[in-house]
This record gives sequence, C-alpha cells and structure tokens, in this order.
Amino acid sequence: MDAIATLRGKYLEQIGAAPDADALEAVRLAALGKKGEISLKMRELGQMSAEERQSAGPALNALKTEVDAALKARKSAQEDAALDARLKSEWLDVTLPGRPRPMGTIHPISQVMDELTAIFADMGFAVAEGPQIESDWYNFDALNIAPEHPSRQEMDTFYMHRAEGDTRPPHVLRTHTSPVQIRAMQNQGAPIRVIAPGRVYRMDMDQTHTPMFHQVEGLAIDRDISMAQLKWTLEEFCRAFFEVDEVELRFRASHFPFTEPSAEVDIRCSWEGGQLKIGEGKDWLEILGSGMVHPKVLQAGGIDPNEWQGFAFGLGIDRIAMLKYGIPDLRAFFESDLRWLRHYGFASLDQPSLAAGLSR
Ligand code: PHE
Repeated sequence: MDAIATLRGKYLEQIGAAPDADALEAVRLAALGKKGEISLKMRELGQMSAEERQSAGPALNALKTEVDAALKARKSAQEDAALDARLKSEWLDVTLPGRPRPMGTIHPISQVMDELTAIFADMGFAVAEGPQIESDWYNFDALNIAPEHPSRQEMDTFYMHRAEGDTRPPHVLRTHTSPVQIRAMQNQGAPIRVIAPGRVYRMDMDQTHTPMFHQVEGLAIDRDISMAQLKWTLEEFCRAFFEVDEVELRFRASHFPFTEPSAEVDIRCSWEGGQLKIGEGKDWLEILGSGMVHPKVLQAGGIDPNEWQGFAFGLGIDRIAMLKYGIPDLRAFFESDLRWLRHYGFASLDQPSLAAGLSR
C-alpha cells in the first residue's frame, strides 16, 4: 500500500512539474508505457496470492486512472497556455484603418477606344488589326496612292532605316489605319464589317498635331452598300458616342485616292461661352474622312469590284476624345503626367457598354 502511495506522489509531482509536451510524454512513458513502472506493477498482480491481489488490484487500477487523468489535464493546460501565448504575440487590431492602395486609371484614349468598339460591335462591326510598321505597298500602293503623291514624301512620313543594298521593300510607320482595310480584305474576303482602331504616325508637331496619334478605320463591304448607309452608320455612332439625342453631320465633297466619291464629315456644335456642345449651335467641326471604297482598292485586297462595294471611313480618336471629355490640349494625351491622368482618367474596373452607359 505504501508503495502505491509513493508512486502516486512521485508521478503526480512530475506531471505537475513537466514544463512542456516532451517532458510530459517522458513522464507518461515512465509510468504507463509498456515498461512503465505502474504497468510493470500491474503485471506482477498475476504472481500474487488471491488475497494480496484483492487489495492491490483496485488500488493499482485507481492509481492508473488517476495518473492518466492527471496527464490529460496537464496536457490540455499546456495547450491552453501555448494558445494564450500565441494570441498575445499575434494579435490583430481590426479597428485600424485599411492601407489604401493607389488605383490606376484608364487613359482617355483607351476609354474612347473601348467606347467606340462597344458602339460599333453593337452595329455588327468586328475589330481588325494590322502592324504599325507597314510596307509602303499596304500603306500607299494598295490604297491607290500614286508614287508621286505628296503624302509619301520623306517630310511627312517616317520611313524605316534601310542599310545600303537592302532589297526588302521600304517600310514606314503607318500614316493612317487604312492599310488595315487591305489586310482585312485579304484575310477574310467579302462581305466585311470591321473597325480598326490604332496608332498612326506623321511628321507633325504643334498644338493640334502630334507625331503619333490615333485613328479608327471603318470598313463595310457587301453587295449593295451605299453612301446612305455610311451616313446612317456615322450618325448613329455620333449619337451613341456623344450621348446626345440629336446630331447633325455635314458631308463635304472631298478627295481621297482610296475612295470615290469621297467626303469629309463635320459635326454641328457650339462653342458658346467657351463650352463645347455637340449637336447644336452654328459651328462645324471636322471629325473624319470617308467615302465609297475605290474599285482599285477592292482589287488590291483581292475582292471583285463588279460584285462587291462598300464604304470606308477614318476617324480621329484623339479629336473626338478631346471633344467628348473637354480636353483642351492634344499634347497632354502623350505627356504621361500623372496628375493629368488622375484628373482625366477613368475608373479601371468600369467596362464601357451600351447597356450600362458608356461613360458613367
Ligand atoms: N485615311 C484617311 C486619313 O488618314 C481617312 C479616310 C479613311 C478617308 C477611309 C476615307 C476613307 O486621313
């Protein structure tokens, strides 16, 4: 009996003093493991007389149960303490204000490209693309621009450098988006409804001209497309783009080598009080060039002009962006001034769509 009381005192004390899980496990093994002291004692019961067993058996069992319970209690106390310590070191103040991340904005040119893509998509036009470094055949010849045409001159067009003896055809930075017309004809054949927004380059630099600017080309080819459809398409576009009920367009006879007949198109506006209003007033603003695609251009694109006809237009994106969003200086578009971008930029997660409103 004394022996059991000694064991009890010894192990309860060790359990209480075990500083961590490892120490506690060592105590468990020493007491209750296969070769643990209490386990061995229980095994000795078999060699005792019935009488001895009757008093030692229950006592040993009780001891085992008690030590076991003490081990468990100590273990969970240790775990609680560890959790407490962790909570103390890893606390989080959920009442602190958040750390704001600077959000970028969409450049007005990108916004306007998204807007006009949405509008023309609604009218059945897909987006077509072409390279910005273009062969002079695509940029000029295929568009019926004669070899002696002034726009080809080195003074107006950026020519790519060519080493002496280089026999490859001359390349230019495309001076308009019209070469994409030819590529679209070659790639998909008639009928066609595409727009081609993108960068174009000319040697020009003043308050209203920059060496790089943006155009969107429009091209519709089918068996019976007419000027009337060109006019409707452009009016519909302007109404949707400028978000006004009425627009008035003025078609002025003009000349482009790649269209016949050709027209430059102005939009009615007012500048009263320095404030531009689209659709009313007595002023006119030129926004695009257009016409019926010249038969030679269709031919260059591999389309039979006896079967197919269509219209084309080229619209200045920078110009209509300035008009719509009241941006006074063209050059600001290209200066990458962050203060300007934050002022004129658009929320980056708003995708313009006709259904949601183009420019909320
Ligand atoms: N490419 C012409 C320009 O850059 C615009 C245009 C396109 C005119 C298509 C007629 C038809 O000025």
